[in-house]
Amino acid sequence: MQKLEQLYEGKAKKVFKTDDPKLYIVDYKDDATAFNGEKKGTIASKGVVNNRMSAIIFAQLEEKGVPTHLVELLSDRETLVKAVKILPLEVIVRNVAAGSFSKRYGVEEGRKLVKPCLEFSYKNDDLGDPLINDDHILALELAAPEQLDLIRKYAFMVNDFLIEFFLKSDLNLIDFKIEFGLFDGKVILADEISPDTCRLWDVHTGEKMDKDRFRRDLGNVEETYQEVLARVEKNS
Ligand code: TMP
Ligand code: ASP
Repeated sequence: MQKLEQLYEGKAKKVFKTDDPKLYIVDYKDDATAFNGEKKGTIASKGVVNNRMSAIIFAQLEEKGVPTHLVELLSDRETLVKAVKILPLEVIVRNVAAGSFSKRYGVEEGRKLVKPCLEFSYKNDDLGDPLINDDHILALELAAPEQLDLIRKYAFMVNDFLIEFFLKSDLNLIDFKIEFGLFDGKVILADEISPDTCRLWDVHTGEKMDKDRFRRDLGNVEETYQEVLARVEKNS
């Protein structure tokens, strides 16, 4: 399958058309941004880590009954995916308080939440991806009611799966962000699941093993991405 015209370039990935209108090729970059693009950098081989890790996770999620955009891994940086139309929602599930949740509600990072907590952001860089609730989503027709129901259901299925998946690699899943798209009118999981989009803390040391190392200048960013991929490849 050949890459044709570039359709889109995001902060971390490029998307290309193929000769099949129902399929795209995603090409993962090493570029890293944080704080809505204010902080910019490069994490060597991040694209390889995120591409390979996403393919492993999406393939296992399919087996668990979560439909995804994955068709097949093509190379270290490229994956063939279904040509979805992305819904403009960042779907976040939190198990432990951290990041913007801790800041917003004045809760210390690391406090276990008594139940997994789902939140949505409206994907809009100009607005800084503002928090949005179910009623807002329906009122603005960002998703239909039955689509929203499915998104909620799949998000918790992904959470249940990922908690176990990462525990096998001695990583605690603190929170993550996923995105969904429409393909043939159906809601399917799209985008990526990687150290860019999850918070992962080492079970033994509590060390941050994710993009917070870049966001917060904690050092060993590249090594940490490599370590997470190595653990995941060994244990899956
Ligand atoms: P937050 O605490 O900054 O809101 O982040 C929650 C989760 O979402 C965390 O795992 C990081 C991930 N995330 C993204 O994948 N993309 C983003 O643009 C942001 C802000 C967070
Ligand atoms: N997507 C965010 C941005 O560039 C990065 C992040 O914090 O994950 O701004």
